[in-house]
Amino acid sequence: MPEILDRKLEKSFELWDMAQKKILSGTQLYSKGPETHIKGVSPIYIEKGKAAHVWDVDGNEYIDYDMGLGPILLGYCYDAVDYAVKEQLKYGMGFSLVSPKEVEYAELCVKNIPCAEKVRFLKTGSSATEGAIRIARAYTGKKHIIRGEYHGWHEWTTAGETVRQGGILPELKNYIHKFEYNDFSTVERLFEEYKGDIAAVITEPVILEQPQNGFLENLLELCHANGALLIFDEVVTGFRFSIGGAQKYLGITPDLAAFGKAAANGMPLSIIAGKKEIMDVVDKNIFISTTFGGETLSLAAGIAVMKELEEKDITERIWALGSKLREETNKMAERVGVNIRLHGYSPRMMFDYKDSANKNDWKYNSLFMQECVKRGVLLGWSIFPCYTHTDQDIDFTLSVFEDAMKIYKKAMGSGNFDSYLEGEPLKIVLG
Ligand SMILES: Cc1ncc(COP(=O)(O)O)c(C=O)c1O
Repeated sequence: MPEILDRKLEKSFELWDMAQKKILSGTQLYSKGPETHIKGVSPIYIEKGKAAHVWDVDGNEYIDYDMGLGPILLGYCYDAVDYAVKEQLKYGMGFSLVSPKEVEYAELCVKNIPCAEKVRFLKTGSSATEGAIRIARAYTGKKHIIRGEYHGWHEWTTAGETVRQGGILPELKNYIHKFEYNDFSTVERLFEEYKGDIAAVITEPVILEQPQNGFLENLLELCHANGALLIFDEVVTGFRFSIGGAQKYLGITPDLAAFGKAAANGMPLSIIAGKKEIMDVVDKNIFISTTFGGETLSLAAGIAVMKELEEKDITERIWALGSKLREETNKMAERVGVNIRLHGYSPRMMFDYKDSANKNDWKYNSLFMQECVKRGVLLGWSIFPCYTHTDQDIDFTLSVFEDAMKIYKKAMGSGNFDSYLEGEPLKIVLG
């Protein structure tokens, strides 16, 4: 029976007060900031991690499921990756000429990622998607982009949002068009409306729901029939669904893809991968160039991750852990009688919380997350099982979920749900 932990959060709160005075918006990634967790109940600062466990700055321990917002695939402080970084540290972090690690990593990418005939390395998911978009525009000579959900913070994609538009050239909105996953008819309509001027469709290969009615095959065909490219944003799915990303798992190869997050188990490394024919055409005409693109510690970490994926049953383990967690959670929700579902593919899932009228409200997420964090389970947007979540971690988590569900049910039936919230409910943020 999980107990409510006797936690103090003073250091977290103190640091956040200081951060707000000195750091723009207080955080480097909005969705790591306190607005996405229940303020007053959730820790704000994590100091260390080991395997799937993290410790906040006040010394409280949690089982983590947001895994650095995606990068932590193998677990925190994973020996083989840490060893590779330490070994590389003896040689140097980055040189005045290119390093052999770039070639070694490129070989592994080309071997394992279906669309990767040629690659480029960068540091963030945002720069990888931006690079892929620039390549697509350079290759096709066209301007318009049709995009899916979230592809980072750079101007080409933020122009497609409605919030946080400060500093974005409004005219860029003319060139960016959004569609919902599986909504093929909107994409068809956009191809009609901007006939002959669509450079690319960029989408995550999968988010939560399965592609329906040949959605991805149809996108590829529509793009090619109109001289456009299909880009998969594999920043989240990459290395989590399989060593070759979701494209390998689904058996559909895009023209270009962007990888990031989990590539180096927490070290900053991202990849633009694509067909040789496309890369060769743009080679002399495109400008993608950055000092830290070949930084050696992250490349050493990336190589270690890829070798672990090649040599061990990591993908299978992650899928199995995710499936167990989802199936047991959903059975439990039925048994307890709450309208909570864990859905999505096993390597990347999300909770869906609804009331008896089937309505969603962020306060429902807040209450469930509140009751979990009080008992030592830290939830965020996504549920990412990692290789070193143990069976005991999952069993403990399930027992915490059961307690949280019972309280959720009581709150729903109380007629005063809000009185169960012990802090400020979380908000949706961009990024
Ligand atoms: C699907 C997707 N693409 C791109 C990005 C941007 O990656 P980064 O935050 O590393 O710039 C993210 C970040 O969450 C993402 O989820």
